[in-house]
Amino acid sequence: MRTLTLRQPDDWHLHLRDGAALAAVAPATEAVFARALVMPNLKPPVRTVADALAYRARIKAVAPRLDPLMTLYLTDHTTPGDIAEAAAHPHVVAAKLYPAGATTNSDAGVTDIAALAPVLDAMAEHGLTLCVHGEVTQSDVDVFDREARFLDEVLAPLVARHPGLKVVLEHITTAEGVAFVQAHAANVGGTVTPQHLLLNRNALFEGGLRPHHYCLPVLKRERHRQALAAAVTGGDPRFFLGTDSAPHAQGAKESACGCAGVYSAPFALGLYAEVFEAAGALDRLESFASLNGPAFYGLPANAGTVTLVREADPVPTALPFDDTRIVPFRAGGAVAWRVLPR
Ligand code: NCD
Ligand code: ZN
Repeated sequence: MRTLTLRQPDDWHLHLRDGAALAAVAPATEAVFARALVMPNLKPPVRTVADALAYRARIKAVAPRLDPLMTLYLTDHTTPGDIAEAAAHPHVVAAKLYPAGATTNSDAGVTDIAALAPVLDAMAEHGLTLCVHGEVTQSDVDVFDREARFLDEVLAPLVARHPGLKVVLEHITTAEGVAFVQAHAANVGGTVTPQHLLLNRNALFEGGLRPHHYCLPVLKRERHRQALAAAVTGGDPRFFLGTDSAPHAQGAKESACGCAGVYSAPFALGLYAEVFEAAGALDRLESFASLNGPAFYGLPANAGTVTLVREADPVPTALPFDDTRIVPFRAGGAVAWRVLPR
């Protein structure tokens, strides 16, 4: 049987939610990943170090082996003082920029990015990473063009104004996103999800409307999927693993106005292994999953290991989630690689 042993990976973009939903999903991440960069888009959002530490304690209560790395949610009211406080705390490693209205629970996000300049200056000064949801939000911009437009109109000028800032373009979905990261220096990185590496936008409409393939940024054309797969399997250290696993209850997805988000955490590492295997680059999976992210964030790689086996891992049609159910990515199918229990 073929096996593959890697340094234990980290998930550099994860939604864990709160309360009973948190308790339902966090164990799946700690079963595989050592650390997770936890997104702050709760209701209300995680705005301060005190919010982040309280949330971290709630995560540790249900997933004690996980090391949650926290992010602050930037708003129009975030101050340079908030940033200095965050940077001084080892458990807070980034702040997240959600353009207001871009995605799930982003209504408290930033409405005027130019006015954020003093906060971004403080982030550069203190070495706090900026994680970016890279989409413009104007309703007249085609939804498939929102990432590319954001890069040109918002992120390029932002990076030029703040050359010392560490920036992660989260969940890259386009060839333009790949090119943006590659065109910049080592202080600009990017995360890529399993679904954007494995699916193109046809998956949204295959035999009918497929709400469980809907996430933001939305799936793109096949040429973009190919560009993403080439970037991550090509060994460029600026790309690293971030699942964007984003759980929503089955009923909230299978709805007249379904929520955006794909729940991939329990099967994510095996899904990424499929991508690297298809590219003949399994030897590069460890860098993407376990080495590039810590190097970008200035943290050590993990000491432990995980082992994958080339053996079908069946994905249930649904999993328990609070008092309801959640439908995971590839539900009812199988993933080609199974992670052995640690
Ligand atoms: C995320 C969520 O549900 O919180 N949804 C998604 O489609 N990716 C938010 C986000 O990362 O955009
Ligand atoms: Zn996300």
